[in-house]
Amino acid sequence: MTTTSSAPGKVYLFGEHAVVYGEPAVPCAIERRATVTVSERDDDHLRVSADALSLDGFTVEYSDGSDQEPDVNVPTPLVEAATGYVDEAVAQARDAADSPHTGFDVEIESEIPLGAGLGSSAAVAVAGIDAATRELGVELDAREVADRAYQVEYEVQDGQASRADTFCSAMGGAVRVEGDDCTTLDAPDLPFVVGYDGTSHDTGELVAGVRSLREEFGFAADTVAAIGDLVREGERALAAGDVETLGRLMDVNHGLLSALGVSARSLETMVWAARESGALGAKLTGAGGGGSVVALDAEDCVETALGLTPDCEESFRAALATEGVRQA
Ligand code: PMV
Repeated sequence: MTTTSSAPGKVYLFGEHAVVYGEPAVPCAIERRATVTVSERDDDHLRVSADALSLDGFTVEYSDGSDQEPDVNVPTPLVEAATGYVDEAVAQARDAADSPHTGFDVEIESEIPLGAGLGSSAAVAVAGIDAATRELGVELDAREVADRAYQVEYEVQDGQASRADTFCSAMGGAVRVEGDDCTTLDAPDLPFVVGYDGTSHDTGELVAGVRSLREEFGFAADTVAAIGDLVREGERALAAGDVETLGRLMDVNHGLLSALGVSARSLETMVWAARESGALGAKLTGAGGGGSVVALDAEDCVETALGLTPDCEESFRAALATEGVRQA
């Protein structure tokens, strides 16, 4: 048998970094998906192939419990990251199906750049758990997939993970995450445009940087609290469908993130290119330090302007994905 599932990536409308300190955040799923196809094997091996994780393409085969390095011609940290998420997702599926020694062939395709702040690892974990459990005849509801995918991120990222990415990818749409409290939100069809600078960042390092700034300076703790206040305002604007206010608040959220030291020249260039071409608002999304910005624009101008910005490797329109994890 073969089973395929897909799950969306995400952008943060508001609240990244502050969510680590218990403030609310509002991530939104976007129509860029990771697709994972799984077939049960008749041995206990795991064979993983991936064509589009922003890697050159790799295939690795390894058996459970072996600490052998995969023999592939791509940078080791990226392979380790990708295979780490797949290993842990498979472990979660085996646990859910009470089938500890099942082997799988796993094929990953992703439209979401790796390490760009767009939730590629969460989407792979969510789609992988869903496909592997269904392959074994077990149906988990989306919340349970989200919870297991969070355990995957928690393991692979040494405890540096909030529930935001995995909950958003599993449920789709706009969601609100505050600590362990995760809810879905009603949202209008937000006209997201994404600009990506082609680099990847280390989320753990950026989180640690904000943590030490916050411990050293009262103003940084106040800035984190101000982001929380801004998110609560943003929730009201979202409920009212007030896209203009959402845009203004995105601009302010970007300024507060810059004050916390997580912006980068490429992100500033893209944010300003978006604003100057008519975006209702623009901000970095995810951990920062490089990666992606998200803007609101119902026209084509921002996508075109970002495409012409030297620091921007790729720009694309990303509709709100109303569906989370699904059979692909
Ligand atoms: O860049 P990403 O997708 O890893 O997002 C990180 C978001 C943070 O709030 C900075 C960390 C977290 O786990 O919530």
